[in-house]
Amino acid sequence: MTEPMLELAGIRAGYGAIEVLHGVDLTLRPGSLLALLGPNGGGKSTTMRVCAGLHAPSGGELRFAGRKVNGISAQDAARLGVCSIPEGRGIFPNLTVRENLWAATGTGARLEDLEEKAYARFPILGERRRQLAGSLSGGEQQMLALSRALGADPAVLLLDELSMGLAPMIVTRMYETVAELVEGGLSVLVAEQFARAVLPIADTAALMLNGRIVAAGTPDEIEDRLSSDYLGG
Ligand SMILES: Nc1ncnc2c1ncn2[C@@H]1O[C@H](COP(=O)(O)OP(=O)(O)O)[C@@H](O)[C@H]1O
Ligand SMILES: [Mg+2]
Repeated sequence: MTEPMLELAGIRAGYGAIEVLHGVDLTLRPGSLLALLGPNGGGKSTTMRVCAGLHAPSGGELRFAGRKVNGISAQDAARLGVCSIPEGRGIFPNLTVRENLWAATGTGARLEDLEEKAYARFPILGERRRQLAGSLSGGEQQMLALSRALGADPAVLLLDELSMGLAPMIVTRMYETVAELVEGGLSVLVAEQFARAVLPIADTAALMLNGRIVAAGTPDEIEDRLSSDYLGG
């Protein structure tokens, strides 16, 4: 079997003296989408930050392509092809669309190439290229965040709460784009409080409660758990 792109084994992490991840196991297979689900405060974003090298785990093992990388910096994680879109999207509201793409060129990609790719995928961004990112709609901002992340040509994409603040129709469209990227070979880990949008395109799913994975399996299996556990029936 091929090595997982990303693997967490017994990962512990916290803030100061407070531990919030109590031994998390997750496996992201190449070219697949793993949905990390669960209610607010469960530890999803902390898990994502550990994966992105933004938060050092206090225990367990973080592995990229089979290699232990505990304590890796965000920069080195990015160099190894792990790219993240944080909760809140991480774009610069006071820069234009174009400048936001430009600010993502740290990896050596040319701005013209980034723009061409971004506008081909999301034509609306092309129309808005000189507009301040902060004045875009939520959906357009998420398209920009996705375009910035893809500019680095990542192998692994970490998406935290893609659906946050977006109309259901826009969420569906964004996840269609994500599904196409997975089809094209990208490995994606999605954290979502709202399971409905992402489960249909997920290959595997995990349910996180209070810093622990309480169920992992196929989207169907996890959907059953969701309706019996935290959606109350
Ligand atoms: N910067 C922080 N400092 C202290 N505690 C935090 C911080 N970020 C998150 N937490 C706590 O860690 C726990 C998990 O939060 P988080 O990872 O954001 O969960 P989720 O993304 O599932 O909502 C929560 O109890 C939250 O209050
Ligand atoms: Mg979160």
